Amino acid sequence: MATVAEVAPAIYRVNHVVPDVPVTFSFFVIADDQPALVQTGFGRCFDESLEAVRRVIDPARLRYIVVPHFEGDECGALNRFLALAPHAQAVCSPIGAFTNLADFALREPLAVDETSVLDLGQHRLRFLLTPYVHQWDSLLAFDETTGTLFSSDLFIQPGPQPPTTDRDLTEEMLLVYRTIGIFPSRAHLNAALDKIEALAPRTLACHHGSVVSGQIPAYLRALREHDVTGLTAWNPMRGA
Ligand SMILES: [Fe+2]
Ligand SMILES: [Fe+2]
Repeated sequence: MATVAEVAPAIYRVNHVVPDVPVTFSFFVIADDQPALVQTGFGRCFDESLEAVRRVIDPARLRYIVVPHFEGDECGALNRFLALAPHAQAVCSPIGAFTNLADFALREPLAVDETSVLDLGQHRLRFLLTPYVHQWDSLLAFDETTGTLFSSDLFIQPGPQPPTTDRDLTEEMLLVYRTIGIFPSRAHLNAALDKIEALAPRTLACHHGSVVSGQIPAYLRALREHDVTGLTAWNPMRGA
């Protein structure tokens, strides 16, 4: 069963543990006047995800569903949520709208850029465009109100972890990236880290592993100082 935990004011982490997979999978519910999801989880986990969302909000009230990039764990259940929330709209980068969601989503997506603000009521979402971190269409959402960066596949850690941590898990993080090799280019990663540092986030709402609530400079420094870009030979068909 998915677990639900409040990780910042009115921001809830829904977490799935998938047997024999080295990372867990999270998405986030922002409970507000205009409720939002950040990510949807896999389509194949939809029933469990829906039940978890219902513990926080009425999913029919959803207004926005942020898609950081087009992958199954990020947005596989998008159309299932859109189907039961008549006023909900997918939110993605301009590249994401053009290449993926204008075609895939059952309703026209809202393309946002770094000038966009979504006022949810208490929370205000801004966006960073972070191409190739780790997909062409990548975008990160930032809640100004709580200082929460929805960091998607940045700052992830392996294995089941508590909902939040203030521990330095950067060695574990680096091992994951060195193994699976999701960042194609140092230049693209540095550009994203520059933008994140300028925001000075107080919380990193990671898509895999714990939400990071302390020692954030250590996580940024680790990705600057260690080479986690380039080719690896990882093959998920052979397991971890
Ligand atoms: Fe991803
Ligand atoms: Fe992911």
